[in-house]
Amino acid sequence: MQRRLCIESLDVAGKRCFVRADFNVPLDEFQKITDDSRIRGALPTINDLIDRGAKIILASHLGRPKGERRPEMSLQPVRTRLSRLLKQEVKFVDDCIGEEVEKAVAELRDGEILLLENLRFHKEETANDLEFAKKLASLTEVYVNDAFGTAHRAHASTVGITQFVKDSACGYLMKKEIEYFQRSVADPIRPVVSIVGGAKVSTKIGVLLNMMDRVDKLIVGGGLAFTFLKARGREIGNNILEEHMIHEAREIMDKARDLGVKFYLPVDFLVAERLDPRAQTKVVTAQEIPANWVAPDIGPASVTLFTEALQDAKTIIWNGPMGVFEMDPFSRGTMAMVAAVSEAYALTIVGGGDTDVAVHKAGAQDKISFISTGGGAFLELLEGKTLPALAALSEAPSDAN
Ligand code: 3PG
Repeated sequence: MQRRLCIESLDVAGKRCFVRADFNVPLDEFQKITDDSRIRGALPTINDLIDRGAKIILASHLGRPKGERRPEMSLQPVRTRLSRLLKQEVKFVDDCIGEEVEKAVAELRDGEILLLENLRFHKEETANDLEFAKKLASLTEVYVNDAFGTAHRAHASTVGITQFVKDSACGYLMKKEIEYFQRSVADPIRPVVSIVGGAKVSTKIGVLLNMMDRVDKLIVGGGLAFTFLKARGREIGNNILEEHMIHEAREIMDKARDLGVKFYLPVDFLVAERLDPRAQTKVVTAQEIPANWVAPDIGPASVTLFTEALQDAKTIIWNGPMGVFEMDPFSRGTMAMVAAVSEAYALTIVGGGDTDVAVHKAGAQDKISFISTGGGAFLELLEGKTLPALAALSEAPSDAN
């Protein structure tokens, strides 16, 4: 297997460079970008290519249009934001293959940027269709993958294309994501504490099993905690229970005990009559969740326990909120954990998606060592999986075409 190259080792001056970015940003109903972290994350790569006089072709997906041309999933808003951030014109074509695109690419001058329209307007993209990949490859001399958020997808623009371009490399965002992963999971400074939250055990089981061998402490909160509490014989009221996961939950706790990993579950909750910000609420111990009530947040004793468990941590990896923090009355536990993590004397890594939103909601983004731009991709790394786009970069032939 070849070593994966990074963009700085490629000669790009005057060359056409196809950059696969992940501009899959959230948009509101007026097509306004509500979080541009992923666009900002791609700037180091784009700026470097501008400085070195490359002809830059940017490509991304947005949403899941399933091969249809959906105007609300156009990359036009990304073009506008990118142009503002770079203080430079970003040209745009309303397709990603075809004559118009070829013409626009041919007209690019050194240091200029062309953004292609949503790759997923062609169903061949997600099918990793090699003919489609070849068409994308024919636009360029150099391929750069900076789309960490999409690295868990084996698509034409992330995997197939590498077979047909002579020089392939990862961009700076991709490099940074992998470096932080190495520092926090593959070769961490101990003690390592992993905080795993979110709704369901079934979506986090791979993470829990894989991280178990690597961490010193495991803190479990959010909806998935209830299946663990049930496995310990507790009554859990009207909360999410995955019956089919009770056995796995028990095995995870047994494994933690056998490995000497300290395993923490919430010891109290904020309970509510129903999942409604106006509902009546109270704080109860984990033994006293009333029947038919829900527990949309952890309680103050759990926050104290979890915060103390973080005190000696040198590395903290957090994925998944502690409760339904999107509703203000149920956000205290998650917000308190954001404060605890951001104040810890540790390398702190937060996974994308909901946890990222919670950190931003608390305004603590600058106090976290690294917030991954990947949701699914970050999870798959924590599960110990190989990301297809990274494997493709490592295996890319050196003399394709
Ligand atoms: C993401 O937002 O996680 C990535 O952009 C991948 O998007 P997808 O789940 O639609 O493939």
